[in-house]
Parts: sequence; structure tokens; C-alpha cells
Amino acid sequence: MTTAIYPGSFDPITNGHIDVLRRASKLFDDVIIAVLENPSKNPTFSVNDRIKLIKDSILDLKNVKVDAFKGLTVDYARQKKAKVLIRGLRAVSDFEHEMQMAQMNKNLYPDLETIFLVPSVENSFLSSSLVKEVSILGGDISNVVPDAVNNYLTKR
Ligand code: PNS
Repeated sequence: MTTAIYPGSFDPITNGHIDVLRRASKLFDDVIIAVLENPSKNPTFSVNDRIKLIKDSILDLKNVKVDAFKGLTVDYARQKKAKVLIRGLRAVSDFEHEMQMAQMNKNLYPDLETIFLVPSVENSFLSSSLVKEVSILGGDISNVVPDAVNNYLTKR
């Protein structure tokens, strides 16, 4: 059994995250999408809301669990006996930061492999912060986020 964790802020989840998650769910026996609980990052949505929005968006993905974590990602991975860490790689702009994290995580937990998955082109330029900005200003985000997130943001 290979368990992979897919950690992130998911504030909120977008179609880009879902794209990566779908790919991971085909590659690994179990995937845990792990929401970082870190108030110092000043998230827009509570952890519970972020978890609920993810759950409502992935009802068909039977081998994916949703969880929250605090502290270091490597400690969470050890606790879950996960040997694979999934990250999405969208554009060159992601590369440097992702490499830094992958190298640091490798240093902290040598048995953990970071695997980068590339979303399709239409999902490659999405970010949670851009989605929130457009939504707050009244723009249509229905084709870049799951329905659950679109409904939630529209109501807010
Ligand atoms: O969705 P994000 O904000 O790009 O995800 C970043 C995340 C949560 C994966 C990263 O900030 C993280 O791993 N935070 C947990 C604390 C930690 O382990 N920091 C050291 C990373 S090398």
C-alpha cells in the first residue's frame, strides 16, 4: 500500500488542486489531502470550511481522505506512514519555492519522496488568491473552482 499526502493551504481549493488530486488518486492506493492549520498564514477560510469544501468537491474520489494538520509536513507524513508527498507544479514561477521545500523536506525525512504533478494547461494559471480576488470583485469564477466553492463564494 502506498500512501501519498497532498499538503497545502487550499484556501480555497481550486480546479487546479482537484486536477492534481485526481492524477494522484490514480497513481497511489491512498491519498490524504492535508489542509494546513496555520493561523499565521491568515487564511480567508476556517480549516473546517476548507475541509468541507474539499469533501463536497471530491465525492467521487473513493481513495482520497481529507484531513487537517499543524506543524511540519514531514512530521505529519511520518505519523501517516506516507512515503510520498504530492505537489502541483504549474509554471516556472512555482519552481524555486517548490524545489526549496522538496530539498528541505528530503533533508528532514529522507524516506519521503516529493512527486510533482502537472495540471492540464487550463488549470495551470490558477491560484486560490486570484480566485478570491476575482470573486470579491464580482467576477465569474464558476469554471475555475468546483461548484461547492463557487456556491460558497457567491453566497459570501
Ligand atoms: O498551498 P501552499 O500554501 O502552497 O502549501 C504550502 C505548504 C502547506 C505545503 C507548506 O507551507 C508546508 O509544508 N507547511 C507546513 C510547515 C512546514 O513543514 N514547513 C517547512 C516546509 S519545507
